[in-house]
Amino acid sequence: MPFKGCCPYYRVVKLFVYMSVDLTTAEIWTIVLIYSKIISKNEKVKTVEINWGYFLMAERLADRALRVRTTGIREWHRGEVHYNRYEATPYVALDKLFETYSLDKTDELVDFGCGRGRIIFYIHNKFEIPVTGIEANDKTYEEALRNKNAYLHRARHIKAPIRVLYGPAEGYKIKPTENRFYFFNPFSIKIFRKVINNILASVKEHPRSVDLLIYYPTAVYKQFLWKDTPFEIINKVKTPGMVDKKEKFLVYRLRQQDIPYEAE
Ligand SMILES: C[S@@+](CC[C@H](N)C(=O)[O-])C[C@H]1O[C@@H](n2cnc3c(N)ncnc32)[C@H](O)[C@@H]1O
Repeated sequence: MPFKGCCPYYRVVKLFVYMSVDLTTAEIWTIVLIYSKIISKNEKVKTVEINWGYFLMAERLADRALRVRTTGIREWHRGEVHYNRYEATPYVALDKLFETYSLDKTDELVDFGCGRGRIIFYIHNKFEIPVTGIEANDKTYEEALRNKNAYLHRARHIKAPIRVLYGPAEGYKIKPTENRFYFFNPFSIKIFRKVINNILASVKEHPRSVDLLIYYPTAVYKQFLWKDTPFEIINKVKTPGMVDKKEKFLVYRLRQQDIPYEAE
């Protein structure tokens, strides 16, 4: 499947700057060779087709920069209908999102279905804010813990806490300080409803503005948020080059003044 990127020179420089701490000579040369092939084939055009080999290498290199291992897939055993498989949000999608959306020092983020923890380490590293990941698969949770240890070795200077919790997202008690909630298609609409209702109960009890960052929004998630909740879309960010239209972020916001209240 093709992966399209924009200016190849800009991208390769960005990749080197991002990864320069940790590239071996062999890896640098592999990237140079891949790019020189792409660039020489497309000399006069501004867009290039980047193959999945490049995509996977960029993913691995971004992992290396954080000292974590988050690539790959883990399926649930057969018969599990409500919990979706593990697969990480692509780094390229995260880089694109945070070109136009930012997190403040006062924000606290929860990733519901954090998998091996890519989101929480990436955001902790970029914004230095408290993050929590919740994961229901025991093996994946163990991997997230190993990643946390490895990541913290590198990020000792960042004081904000990182929590990785084992258990179902729908049972998580949301803290009054948490205000940014991340979802990459972790579970069925039935579970999603429960988690969103927990968020709404929390904001009614402790009024505050909250954002939902939703990667790969499915029709049922969108329909539920639109019809049954006061959340509004404030941002839409497509993942560069992806063919599947769902490969994008929708950012939803509930402003404090719009929190529905029950009449006494
Ligand atoms: C598509 S992955 C997303 C991983 C990560 N959030 C990311 O974007 O890189 C979804 C994850 O949610 C986990 N999951 C599924 N149902 C869950 C539940 N009810 N509670 C907690 N985690 C769950 C899966 O095991 C999987 O690791």
